[in-house]
Amino acid sequence: KRITVLIGGISHERDVSLASAKGVIEALRSLGHTVTPLDAGADLAALVTALAEQKPDVVFNALHGQFGEDGCIQGVLDWLGIPYTHSGVRASATAMDKAAARAVFLSAGLPVAEGKVIAIEDLAEADPMPAPYVVKPVREGSSIGVSIVRAGSNTRHEIIKNWRYGPHALVEDFIPGKEITVGVLGDRALTVTDITPTPGAGRDFYDYDAKYTSGGSSHVLPADIDDAVSKQACAVAVAAHQALGCSGASRSDFRLDDTGPGPARLILLEVNTQPGMTATSLLPEQAAYCGISYPELCGWLVDQATC
Ligand code: DAL
Ligand code: MG
Repeated sequence: KRITVLIGGISHERDVSLASAKGVIEALRSLGHTVTPLDAGADLAALVTALAEQKPDVVFNALHGQFGEDGCIQGVLDWLGIPYTHSGVRASATAMDKAAARAVFLSAGLPVAEGKVIAIEDLAEADPMPAPYVVKPVREGSSIGVSIVRAGSNTRHEIIKNWRYGPHALVEDFIPGKEITVGVLGDRALTVTDITPTPGAGRDFYDYDAKYTSGGSSHVLPADIDDAVSKQACAVAVAAHQALGCSGASRSDFRLDDTGPGPARLILLEVNTQPGMTATSLLPEQAAYCGISYPELCGWLVDQATC
């Protein structure tokens, strides 16, 4: 097939996309496809012209974040009539907006943390909920802009000062315990990975550096957790994928509070409709565990492409 791989883009996750794309391009070439990388930079007119000229059989979307993962580029490709990998407009837009996704998860009966959307300047006044809580951009990925506010800490003003993610933020109850993730291919959950960030300077969660620095986190898969909890996480990941109307691959991130005396509590954080495909990324690692090589994963995504 003639495949155009959309790479880079203009989001805060541009570098992640370039790293994802490197592997994807090599893999698709190894499968015998004719591959053309195309940087989805700032010039939309040039991008549309290039796509219209190339008329690829399939677009492999290797973008992350704003314009690449939020339904915008998906709408352009729908309009051009070019089949593309991963989710369509509605699922992408809903999943990217953490507040909208929460509403969908709640209506599907899926477990989410206590939380609400606030105006970022409201943080100046008082804690919007009892600490510890997490402050997140409504539409970002890779933990960009995410902070944990702990009881007695005085970081609220610093968060406001460094904020460049729009007028609103999502605040959610901080869930202690483990960070786990489940990849989904179609209607099949792969496995559960337990992620432990390597302790580092100022690092207290699975932040951007922990995600993309080799050795920044350790991954245990399948996670060493109760079988029933593991099955529940897989079922919730598939249900979330379906509730949003995702296509191809997605990856659901969870917190698992196993710190209390009772049964562990599973909380769905988000669904990633463009899961990372970098060398340290979780979805390819889970696929490999399930016997699906990286090139096979890329080939499967191409086979699933629609518009
Ligand atoms: N947002 C990054 C790419 C991920 O979810 O893997
Ligand atoms: Mg994400």
